[in-house]
Amino acid sequence: ATSRTAIIAGNWKMNMGPQQASSFAREIIPALGRVIQHNPSIMSILCPPSISLASVHEVLEAMPTSGVELGAQNMYYEDKGAFTGEIAPGMVKELCTTVILGHSERRMYFCESDELVNKKTLAALAYGLRPIVCLGENSEQYDSGETQSVIKAQIQQSLAGLSDEQASQIVIAYEPIWAIGTGKAATAVGAGHVIHFIRHTYASIYGESAAQAIRILYGGSVTSANIGEFMVHPDIDGGLIGGASIKDDFVEIVRISA
Ligand code: G3P
Repeated sequence: ATSRTAIIAGNWKMNMGPQQASSFAREIIPALGRVIQHNPSIMSILCPPSISLASVHEVLEAMPTSGVELGAQNMYYEDKGAFTGEIAPGMVKELCTTVILGHSERRMYFCESDELVNKKTLAALAYGLRPIVCLGENSEQYDSGETQSVIKAQIQQSLAGLSDEQASQIVIAYEPIWAIGTGKAATAVGAGHVIHFIRHTYASIYGESAAQAIRILYGGSVTSANIGEFMVHPDIDGGLIGGASIKDDFVEIVRISA
């Protein structure tokens, strides 16, 4: 809703192995490409599971003008070595432009702390990857009015130590946990209010121009039926889409946002 290029990213979560990912990518990328080519003010990023990145990358290489980008859902921060089961920033960079970090599911099920998310964020930036750093309160925190204090602590800790240049390059996704996969999205006014607070808090750390440069997305039960309301809000720069990103509805979401 400003001069910032909007982002619609699809977080496929633990869905679609290499074969299914490849056929779904072949189906949606041409349609996404048609929207993006006519609307330079929007970008779209597909984030399949790490085992399917190569197969989606192959599809993207065969359609080089689509403008669709590829992102990972997670990575480790060390360069290489004895970290069984992990993928390194340099490996992600071979195929991707972007990496989602600190998703609430990683924080919840895989014990990721703000400190770990911070290390990963700094590693992503060092490798020239665009981090999409996820923040958000849970339902108890929401009910007890702690949203702002929770978010503020997450920003201070997960996003610590950025250089001036890095500070204007990151993307933040505000995903209230109570809205994820529940069909109960935040209202555009409610999400916009928190996102405004995120930008304000970020400005107090990294200055107003960095805060105006970064994209802040909303995530949580976004579909083609509600994306329009979020996109008209001046503080919301796009969406991080879960369930609807592995359906044709994703193309519709990008079309409405363009
Ligand atoms: O990262 C996107 C996500 O957590 C939102 O999921 O299924 O509510 O769109 P969903």
